[in-house]
Amino acid sequence: MAQPPLLFTPGPLTTQLETRQAMLNDWGSREPAFIAMTAELRRRLLDVAGGHGSHVAIPLQGSGTFIVEAAIGTLVGPSDALLVLTNGAYGERMIEIARRLGRTVEALRWPENQAVEPAAVERALAENPALTHVALVHCETTSGLLNPLAAVATVVARQRRAFIVDAMSSFGALPLDLRETPITAVLASSNKCLEGVPGIAFALVEAAAIARAKRVAPSLSLDLYDQWRGFESNGQWRFTPPVQVVAALVEALRLLEAKGGPAARCAHYAANFRTLADGMARLGFRLFLDESIQSPIIATFRMPQDPRFRFDDIYAALAARGFIIYPGKLTQAQSFRIGCIGALEPDDFERLVAAVADIVAELGLAAEPAAAVRKISRQEAHPGTMPHSTASSASPLSAVILAAGVGRRLGNMAPKVLLDFAGKTLLERHVAALHANGVRDIAITVGHRPDLIRDELSRIGALDCVALIENPRYREGSIVSLAVQRERLAAGGTVLVMDGDVLYDGRMIARLLGAVPENVLLLDHAIEPGDEPVKICLRAEVIVDFAKTPEHAYDRHGESVGFFRFSPSMAAALAQRATAYVQAGRASAEYEAALRELILAHPDRFGYEDISDLPWTEIDFEADVARARRDILPRLQEVAHA
Ligand SMILES: Cc1ncc(COP(=O)(O)O)c(C=O)c1O
Repeated sequence: MAQPPLLFTPGPLTTQLETRQAMLNDWGSREPAFIAMTAELRRRLLDVAGGHGSHVAIPLQGSGTFIVEAAIGTLVGPSDALLVLTNGAYGERMIEIARRLGRTVEALRWPENQAVEPAAVERALAENPALTHVALVHCETTSGLLNPLAAVATVVARQRRAFIVDAMSSFGALPLDLRETPITAVLASSNKCLEGVPGIAFALVEAAAIARAKRVAPSLSLDLYDQWRGFESNGQWRFTPPVQVVAALVEALRLLEAKGGPAARCAHYAANFRTLADGMARLGFRLFLDESIQSPIIATFRMPQDPRFRFDDIYAALAARGFIIYPGKLTQAQSFRIGCIGALEPDDFERLVAAVADIVAELGLAAEPAAAVRKISRQEAHPGTMPHSTASSASPLSAVILAAGVGRRLGNMAPKVLLDFAGKTLLERHVAALHANGVRDIAITVGHRPDLIRDELSRIGALDCVALIENPRYREGSIVSLAVQRERLAAGGTVLVMDGDVLYDGRMIARLLGAVPENVLLLDHAIEPGDEPVKICLRAEVIVDFAKTPEHAYDRHGESVGFFRFSPSMAAALAQRATAYVQAGRASAEYEAALRELILAHPDRFGYEDISDLPWTEIDFEADVARARRDILPRLQEVAHA
């Protein structure tokens, strides 16, 4: 028989031989041997999560979705209200299930590359006493994102609500202890980290909660209360059980225990993940998630920008070599996924990476240069997330500062970047903040009085490290100031673009560099009134407009600081668009118009970083100068020259 392919998928997955061999038998579902097997299954499931004494194990025929539907239908009653915390496809599926069941459901959403925030959950629960239940996906398999389960559980318990956790792709590997973490019901299935074969799902439900749930479920076969009563009354399944699947799962649970339990399994998967992520990074593939929220369950890689890179070709070539990866994407962003769970060893991942390298070379493709930005993690890693990679290699990083304007509204003779605040000009502050964050390649677009800017650079000793790019048409729109920087923008590095006339806290640069999205806009929720501020408009956390007077419907908005981070390909696209504007005689446009077009064309490639907590102000009018001195200056965290 030919060697079976290896599955690098999030389930069904590669199982151990003993698990498959355990199925080579027939059992009558009501015979004592099978009843004993069912009892062992239920006991072992509670063992995995420390649920003895508090919870009961209720296995159910079917896939993972069946248990989610059964749990919501059984535990959330017609007069209850469920709050689903969601940042991916499986959170959205819970909402759909609750709706179909006719249950009252509300959603609290985060972007698919951001973890659920416990403080926001607490606020939502405090504000809405009608909510009775909260549901969370522990590991969102859409992306591999690990949500902060323990912190959310604490908040939900403090607010005295019931808590349902979809632990489908974490149960059996990632830390979960029901003695320490208050959870009403944990849901999972046989064919993920437990490494069984597909066909059974299960819930571990608080004994008191299931006892209260008689006749709540609108379904017969998905009634967890009745299923539980069946097991308790005669040890049997209510309806025909998948006997071989039960046998395989019991064997898989025995193997899990024999090999050191969930902690050892987690370490094993982490070694798989590390081998994969580091190997792919060497080939230039970038992870979709920041590693502070990355689980070792599944790795999502950004799709390379090269349009010749077709996932189907790579998939087929890998499959022909015996490596099955996950076909298709679930994230909204362009990406592909490779599972790290199952009976696979780091060696298997080495071989997979070698195969990817061969295929990429054979097809004459190159992935993007590896992670362009220095990752600065603001989020404390929670248990189970990946230790920070040391393998990320940096692509060139530069900053473009737009400082050509006349500062008409200030009646100013000198360029606005030369405004002095407490003995330091805006220009000196820019250079210090960029240097402190490792950005050493800086180019300023100058127009009005470049001599004064040169003098200031000379005074602060930065003339050698800051390039001056002249914009002779500085009296026209700011699009020209961007277009003259086309070479730097298209040079293949990550580029920060910054308005020059901003007094700001230097930590903003770290935030801009550390933000997760491929392309980042800095956003402040406190928005100045009127048409002057450029607004970043969001609908369901997606940027749907970017303008002084937005045209698209949005559910919330913030003010743009005027600082941006662009990936190499997006910076090049921006250069092209700005140049096209000027060539088409549209030189009176502001650069935001070109950027807006790119954002609207590629909403999945842009995100924002909220810096509402940091002090800043744009300087347009005299009143801004006074306000900056009075309100902003005293709050700034100074950065030392590096
Ligand atoms: C977190 C999560 N929830 C629910 C499901 C649905 O499980 P199934 O496809 O077995 O119905 C999955 C499947 O991957 C999952 O990862």
